[in-house]
Amino acid sequence: MKTLESKLPQVGTTIFTVMSQLAEQHRAVNLSQGFPDFRPPQELLELVDRALGGRYHQYALMPGSMALRNAIAEKLAALYAVRVDPVAEITVTSGATEAIFDAIQAVVRRDDEVVVFDPCYDSYEPSITLAGGRTVHVPLTGPNFTIDWDRLQQALNRRTRLVIVNSPHNPSGALLTREDFERLAELLRPYDCYLLSDEVYEHVVFDGATHATALANAELAERCFAVFSFGKTYHATGWKLGYCVAPPALTGELRRVHQYVTFASTSPLQQALADYMTAHPEHHLNLPAFYQERRDRFAALLSATKFRPLRAAGTYFQLADYSAISTLPDVEFARWLTIEHGVATIPISVFYREPPDARLVRFCFAKENSTLDAAAEKLRRL
Ligand SMILES: Cc1ncc(COP(=O)(O)O)c(C=O)c1O
Repeated sequence: MKTLESKLPQVGTTIFTVMSQLAEQHRAVNLSQGFPDFRPPQELLELVDRALGGRYHQYALMPGSMALRNAIAEKLAALYAVRVDPVAEITVTSGATEAIFDAIQAVVRRDDEVVVFDPCYDSYEPSITLAGGRTVHVPLTGPNFTIDWDRLQQALNRRTRLVIVNSPHNPSGALLTREDFERLAELLRPYDCYLLSDEVYEHVVFDGATHATALANAELAERCFAVFSFGKTYHATGWKLGYCVAPPALTGELRRVHQYVTFASTSPLQQALADYMTAHPEHHLNLPAFYQERRDRFAALLSATKFRPLRAAGTYFQLADYSAISTLPDVEFARWLTIEHGVATIPISVFYREPPDARLVRFCFAKENSTLDAAAEKLRRL
């Protein structure tokens, strides 16, 4: 039998798949993988039906449906006062995952260094490895998962080709502020490097905070690929649609990759989203309150258990300390909790190269109240 030397020898099945399968096997309440268990807006589903019944069956334009790119440009202007050219600066991709992959392939060359902040989303490093680059892990620090600017400065050098930030941050929920982006711009100034800003949870921010986008920082915007996800915003992660905003020269290079990864993303869904965004710009404006209610409800449920919830400033994830329940390392604890107590979570050590000695798991609270209640009932018994 012929074998194949792996190009990604460190990569196995992702923890998200492992925990979701374990949850199914043991009929556990699945608060592990980050997807809502409620439906997209009914009117959006009707627009999908209409698009499917219409003429949107052949390839969309390679950079994305023009109607959708116009709707995105209008939203960026209205929400962030950021003006971009939908023709030259916006590309619709098959999920934010594809945008991240395309940007990394476009930018990173053999032996280039890419700085990521741990705990970090799992798709970054394999994409960097496939491009021949080296991932440099800088840990976020303190209880609030903030950037240690000195450590970032130490990590930067003339081989640094790309820095990846994520705000609101999965798994901690931490937010980068406008001042953070100013500091970042200052630190990156001497280097000929690019920025990938993963902003897929842009609308899931709490307690009156507003999302700070890297695109609003004029200096960073010149070197930035900003990545967004329709899946997160419209409760439709399975549609796998996202987009990247970048200056024309950067977009041109991203599209060279995009056109040979997917060529174009699904056409009827793009049309439906364009129509819905135009008809309902209030949808994303309502999301902070919509998710804050769930966050507060779940945190209240958790406080009646031995878990200690950490403050979640954004995203639909809640970190919780389980040290009052068990001394098991988090991966074993998460397995035990699923198998023996029927609630699936994500251990946060998987987001690190060098995990700290912490007892933290991540719950996803983008769920119906009945799902959160069912989980809480089981967790109260611990
Ligand atoms: C931080 C982060 N970036 C990117 C993605 C991928 O988004 P999409 O489903 O649109 O590919 C996710 C999904 O969980 C995420 O949490």
